[in-house]
Amino acid sequence: MQRIKIKDLLKEQKITEGVLIKGWVRSCRGSKNVSFIALNDGSTINNIQIVAEAIHFEEKLLKQITTGACIEVVGNVVESKGSGQKIEIGAKKITILGHADANDYPLQPKRHSLEFLREKAHLRFRTNTFSAIFRLRHALTFAVHQFFNDKGFFNLHSPIITGADAEGAGEMFQVTNFDLKNLPKNDNGEIDYNKDFFGSKTNLTVSGQLEAELAAMGLGQVYTFGPTFRAENSNTSRHLSEFWMIEPEVAFADLEANMDLAEEFLKYCIQYCITNCADDLRFLDNRLSEEEKNLKKEERSEMGLLERLQFVIENDFERLTYREAIDILRNSKPNKKKKFKYIIEGFGSDLQSEHERYLVEKKFKKPVIISDYPKGIKAFYMKQNEDGETVKAMDILFPLIGEIVGGSQREENLELLEKRMDEMDVDKQELWWYLESRKFGTCVHSGFGLGFERLIMFVTGMKNIRDVIPFPRTPQNAEF
Ligand code: 4AD
Ligand code: MG
Repeated sequence: MQRIKIKDLLKEQKITEGVLIKGWVRSCRGSKNVSFIALNDGSTINNIQIVAEAIHFEEKLLKQITTGACIEVVGNVVESKGSGQKIEIGAKKITILGHADANDYPLQPKRHSLEFLREKAHLRFRTNTFSAIFRLRHALTFAVHQFFNDKGFFNLHSPIITGADAEGAGEMFQVTNFDLKNLPKNDNGEIDYNKDFFGSKTNLTVSGQLEAELAAMGLGQVYTFGPTFRAENSNTSRHLSEFWMIEPEVAFADLEANMDLAEEFLKYCIQYCITNCADDLRFLDNRLSEEEKNLKKEERSEMGLLERLQFVIENDFERLTYREAIDILRNSKPNKKKKFKYIIEGFGSDLQSEHERYLVEKKFKKPVIISDYPKGIKAFYMKQNEDGETVKAMDILFPLIGEIVGGSQREENLELLEKRMDEMDVDKQELWWYLESRKFGTCVHSGFGLGFERLIMFVTGMKNIRDVIPFPRTPQNAEF
């Protein structure tokens, strides 16, 4: 007999004899005569109800059907007499595949806090919330590839180990196989990286952009989708030390085209989830409104989850320049009343998340794209504007998330790029190959990076980034 997945069983709703299902017990209740088992196999948020009449089974077996146990059931699909489900399984044979001692198993059929479940990350896949999140994470992965494939982009596997610091921010994890207790030194007494595994100093990549630019200068349009690593010591609900990023890079595209692509891409991914993950989104929508019931009215989100997703798809993102954003912020109430932690003085101030949230949530009440930032607060590779002060950068800010996308048109002029690298103390020797893309057949090109977990946060309504990646890595934490 072949196993049928619970998702398919519930979809077919067919009264049949002799089906085989396997899954994990979510709960088991009942009386001396009959047990009702809620079984889930991960294929869907929905459980199937198993009805086990005591006369058909040994008491010893029924006692082992506890929350968390893995079981196999053979039975008939029948119309359910109870409310809440159309069909259920009348069990004929039950086999315990894996016990879960009720005294030890940490998850109970009740609401657990997200903090508690983070400590049980090895088991949290078995909860409604996390199974929904990780099914959505998969759907979004699929949507990303679908979107770019349909547009004729090529997926590029950029290296994870590299010698470069693409963002020039120095937030890298070093990669070495040196014996740290016995480091080889050169004549000057410095560590001799010629003797390291790769013959040079290497680190985990902070971005695949530089390599993607090289590929775009031949393949035309490419995108990377991989893990990136940052050793920044920011313990916030929006930062991970290991996160996934999608980085498209497009030849012949200017900043305007870059913004258009990013907006279309985000809307496509969100629409994909609405179309393909209705059950999971409905569950998360309810979860969020339940969670927010305990909050004060002014702390609650103005829209429900599904409403918010729909709203983002249906409305154009607000586009403004950094200078315009600064003007708005300087004249804003919280700035004048010194309610911001960082007061906006004028041109040159970096935008903090409190400012981003003001623009998105208070002023425009929709996603915002800010462009043309001061060159001093952006990376060396960005295309310089003629004003000599700003660069063709763009950040996309989302409600409740803040920055979700960062990108730019790239400086394709060799001379200007080299000058900027000197000014910013970026090693030209190390990036000789990057500079050659400007020396040979350079052209206008642009790209951006989407923080994958931040997109998942937005789509699922989760407020902590640690809850949308299976095993989060953050400062002082790399368990599992
Ligand atoms: O703005 P960032 O640093 O841009 C780059 O890395 C460029 N190389 C992208 C490009 O133009 N190809 O990062 C891009 C996005 C951010 O907008 C944010 O969504 C996410 O990556 N991000 C993080 N997500 C989680 N944890 C962190 N520590 C993150 N740092 C950036
Ligand atoms: Mg950024």
